[in-house]
Amino acid sequence: MFSQRVAEALAHIEALDTDQKRSGQGIPFWRVSADNGRLLHILCRGIGTRRAVELGTSSGYSGIHLASAVASTGGHLWTFEAEPFKLRLSRDHFERAGVLPQVTQVPGDVLHTLPPFIGGSPEPVDFVFLDAVKTDYLRYLEIVLPRLRPGSIVAADNVGPRNARAVAPYLEAVRRAPFVTTVVPTENAEGERDALSISMVQG
Ligand SMILES: C[S@@+](CC[C@H](N)C(=O)[O-])C[C@H]1O[C@@H](n2cnc3c(N)ncnc32)[C@H](O)[C@@H]1O
Repeated sequence: MFSQRVAEALAHIEALDTDQKRSGQGIPFWRVSADNGRLLHILCRGIGTRRAVELGTSSGYSGIHLASAVASTGGHLWTFEAEPFKLRLSRDHFERAGVLPQVTQVPGDVLHTLPPFIGGSPEPVDFVFLDAVKTDYLRYLEIVLPRLRPGSIVAADNVGPRNARAVAPYLEAVRRAPFVTTVVPTENAEGERDALSISMVQG
């Protein structure tokens, strides 16, 4: 059960998303489904995450699921986003959900901002959620790899049939050691067939 503030913030984003889809006005959120959001929350909290990284914040919908997980483990979420509008919107949503103290937003192109973040601290990253540019998933993995520890989880959204070619190099990499990987068939927030991959570092 989410806190009332978190549940209300998530419902607010879902309502905005529904309005956007119905009217065709505004910028699409491309958010995870509610089920995938809850799966991310369960995984992130379940491993006692201290440091979580999300690539692709958008409206903050998945970020609220992750931030509310790390709120209960004394952890923190760094979430990366390039679009200024989405940085402002997600900040409002993090505040609305009461999770802003657990969140650092990192603005800019993730391929420029992620390497200094990873290089800037020797602390391990426990949980990573990939949801920015699908063709760059393998590059993201290569950048975070030095900070993953045995038991770290890397989840990647939209690895279903629509993005099969884009994510193929990534899936090939996480199907090899040191990872154990499962690909869970899902429906995305648009109700289309999709999949979420979940990889854990063995050891
Ligand atoms: C699929 S949406 C993220 C949805 C979000 N994770 C959720 O489920 O609520 C992808 C986001 O990645 C951002 N993005 C795309 N390319 C990026 C880049 N090179 N650097 C940082 N963010 C990027 C987009 O602006 C968009 O908001």
